[in-house]
Amino acid sequence: MGKREKQKQKHDRSQRGRDYYLQDNNEDDTSTMLSPSHNEDEDEIEDAADSDADNNDNNDQHPSHDMPSKFLLYQQSVQSPKGDISYLQKFFLMYVGGRVPLHLQEDFCGTALLSAEWLRSDPRKTAVGLDLDLEALNWCLENNIPKIGADGFSRISLFHGNVLQPLQSKLVKIDPEELVRNISLSQNTENLQTDVIESDVPTSSAAQDDELTMNNFTLSGRDIVCAFNYSCCCLHKRAELVLYFKHARDALSKKGGIFVMDLYGGTSSENTLKLQRRFPNFTYVWEQAEFDIIQRKTRISLHFHLKKEKRKIRHAFSYSWRLWTLPEIRDCLEEAGFRAVHFWVREMPDSTEITRTEGFGVGKDIKYEEATSFQQQDSWNAYIVGVA
Ligand SMILES: C[S@@+](CC[C@H](N)C(=O)[O-])C[C@H]1O[C@@H](n2cnc3c(N)ncnc32)[C@H](O)[C@@H]1O
Repeated sequence: MGKREKQKQKHDRSQRGRDYYLQDNNEDDTSTMLSPSHNEDEDEIEDAADSDADNNDNNDQHPSHDMPSKFLLYQQSVQSPKGDISYLQKFFLMYVGGRVPLHLQEDFCGTALLSAEWLRSDPRKTAVGLDLDLEALNWCLENNIPKIGADGFSRISLFHGNVLQPLQSKLVKIDPEELVRNISLSQNTENLQTDVIESDVPTSSAAQDDELTMNNFTLSGRDIVCAFNYSCCCLHKRAELVLYFKHARDALSKKGGIFVMDLYGGTSSENTLKLQRRFPNFTYVWEQAEFDIIQRKTRISLHFHLKKEKRKIRHAFSYSWRLWTLPEIRDCLEEAGFRAVHFWVREMPDSTEITRTEGFGVGKDIKYEEATSFQQQDSWNAYIVGVA
């Protein structure tokens, strides 16, 4: 890759956020909607020529070895851990203060990119990640943690399980030989987010030890527990949300701590929506299916169109979400015992503005502001902070 291309990639990445609202063209901007009964996390690989999944006769369920991992594509297009971490630190200092936050728990962590980034900035920092997806957790151990350096594995604990029963979740372990191999392969890698090449190690090396559940594992009280990328929308019932918030509160340090989650909304969010963003090697497509106004549920699918490979990974990730409102979240946090709840909101550029502009850069400078009242917009993003 030439220097200019590298600079362009860096520029594009710096303008990326967790803001699926940004799109830069209308390539393939059909309004194809998903079947609500589509399986969770189903992979569909297809030739780029077959753009419509319904007409796809050539579906290849066996991805070529040259295909980038869907987890890598997700991290590059969806996540922005540095931005999240700076807000987490700011919130902690504002609402707790008196010490530097060192211990993080990332619930619904997926590949725990945020946890990995957290560990980078201070050798005293530790992280706990919890997710239902064992494949994503293994991918993290094989690809993200080796890049932290030799002590990365000793400062992170990844648990496989349900956020509604965290103490029963099981520690995901990595084979020590694999560990040594991964570290030597990945030393001196500067930035997790900028890495495009994955370490060339076999998958499925991590194993679970039935004895090691979170319940019998000694963990420091967490300074911060977070649930990002709208993950709380995976919980559909109010009772589940309150239960989850109680578990999050229980995990926090007795010296004080915060729970932070995010949410999106706005008039455009209660409808079908298809947005895309172009990256140097692929296009990322976010697709929201019909919105049920009684259950407040919708289905989200993420697709990746790979340029070089001329292939598409449709439904690389698929989620059934209930779109909670901000007051519902506040009520549930208070019911779970949080003593204060704060909202930090930012208005996102509306859909028409995004379509008119070149895309990258739209809304990049909009900061979150603390708000107690905020008038409805076409689209907004919010951090919600519960103080224990
Ligand atoms: C939208 S992704 C978010 C991933 C990551 N936090 C991020 O910021 O990109 C939601 C994640 O939540 C996980 N998940 C969904 N329901 C869960 C549950 N009840 N307990 C634990 N993890 C869950 C999924 O496996 C998935 O990895």
